[in-house]
Amino acid sequence: MVIKNVSLDIVCGVTSTLPKTELPHIAFAGKSNVGKSSLINALMNRKSLARTSASPGKTQTINFYNVNDALYLVDLPGYGYAKVAQAVKEQWGKLIERYLQNTKELRAVFLLIDIRHDPSANDKTMYDWIVHNGYEPIIIATKVDKLKRSQVPKHVKALKEGLALRPGTAVIPFSAETKQGREEIWELAESLLFE
Ligand code: GTP
Ligand code: MG
Repeated sequence: MVIKNVSLDIVCGVTSTLPKTELPHIAFAGKSNVGKSSLINALMNRKSLARTSASPGKTQTINFYNVNDALYLVDLPGYGYAKVAQAVKEQWGKLIERYLQNTKELRAVFLLIDIRHDPSANDKTMYDWIVHNGYEPIIIATKVDKLKRSQVPKHVKALKEGLALRPGTAVIPFSAETKQGREEIWELAESLLFE
């Protein structure tokens, strides 16, 4: 994908109604701090259009990034951040659920998992939801720059087993630091968008 123009078009909070859009969407889900906003910046070739933070719970709304007037990259709030009050977590959860269940333009949900850690119960729930709803599951194993190259296969295997991935499910190691995996992610995204 040659990036010509990108903009943050829509911000949707817990009390907002979901936007009416015509372009196809690709959404990025995953635990707080896993690197969703950083991945979206890397895909757009931007340093900080999507706001990132070293402390979890940065993205608290659903943010829709328009790429080339061709599609939306959709940045979801993270789940599983322990320090957020239970009531707030539930509101974010409901917002994410409302979006995922009511967006006919949604073409794919990419699930991000930190390559260093075993998947959580929430990760499993999200993976199962993706499969159950008929989307092609694509797992992005983030922060691969934090591992030695020789350690990567072992961690990918643990991730596959932890999520009980169906055979053949794509797992793409990615780094927002080195941009490893960026091209592969765009290729998959485009194949899902324009199939
Ligand atoms: P929430 O919005 O809180 O759900 O988090 P998020 O998933 O959007 O994570 P974000 O992109 O804000 O990144 C969280 C932290 O991880 C930031 O400090 C990033 O700089 C760091 N980070 C993200 N991706 C990578 C990566 O590939 N490698 C390294 N080393 N750090 C990363
Ligand atoms: Mg974020």
